[in-house]
Amino acid sequence: MEIVTRAEQPGDLELIRTINRRAFGQDDEANLVDALRSQGYVRLSLVAVVAGQNVGHVLFSALPIETDRGRVDSLALAPVAVLPEFQNQGVGSKLIRLGLDECRRSGHRIAIVLGHPAYYPRFGFSPELALPLDSPYAGDSFMALELVPGALNGVKGRVEYPPPFGGF
Ligand SMILES: CC(C)(COP(=O)(O)OP(=O)(O)OC[C@H]1O[C@@H](n2cnc3c(N)ncnc32)[C@H](O)[C@@H]1OP(=O)(O)O)[C@@H](O)C(=O)NCCC(=O)NCCS
Repeated sequence: MEIVTRAEQPGDLELIRTINRRAFGQDDEANLVDALRSQGYVRLSLVAVVAGQNVGHVLFSALPIETDRGRVDSLALAPVAVLPEFQNQGVGSKLIRLGLDECRRSGHRIAIVLGHPAYYPRFGFSPELALPLDSPYAGDSFMALELVPGALNGVKGRVEYPPPFGGF
């Protein structure tokens, strides 16, 4: 199965809603994507296309870390969604890997995810790296990744989820 990824285009928005709604079985994540986009927090939105059909989506958005020494920029990876009939065939992994590569290329240094502890470590996310970061979601599911080696060295502070995450 050939999986092509590309940046979100204006004509994709309704399909991105559908992918999120069907993957999660509810509207919350689709609403989160729309709110992050309309409020200017989106840094990268990628869709995965298989045989001309949009089947997956991943979003990276601005997530500041407030520290004693000032603000450190990071990115939230959330949500990632694959249509149920296309799950477990590598679509999510490809979106996440290529998304992280693209974020690194465009100069971002840190990514943070709240997700399954069995899934995200394969991409380099680690709960240990996130330990110095306070968050309303602290725990094993709260993980961080250095897009640039050492980017989290000495970074201790509070992750400030922007208002669109308020419903989660
Ligand atoms: C989670 C999700 C994005 C993964 O994408 P995918 O294309 O199905 O996954 P891949 O084919 O790249 O990887 C398969 C691996 O993901 C694991 N996986 C699939 N869904 C998972 C989930 N909800 N939680 C944890 N792991 C999951 C599989 O067990 C498999 O693990 P293995 O490689 O150790 O056997 C996709 O299954 C999905 O949309 N699920 C529903 C929505 C969701 O839970 N999103 C994540 C939270 S933001």
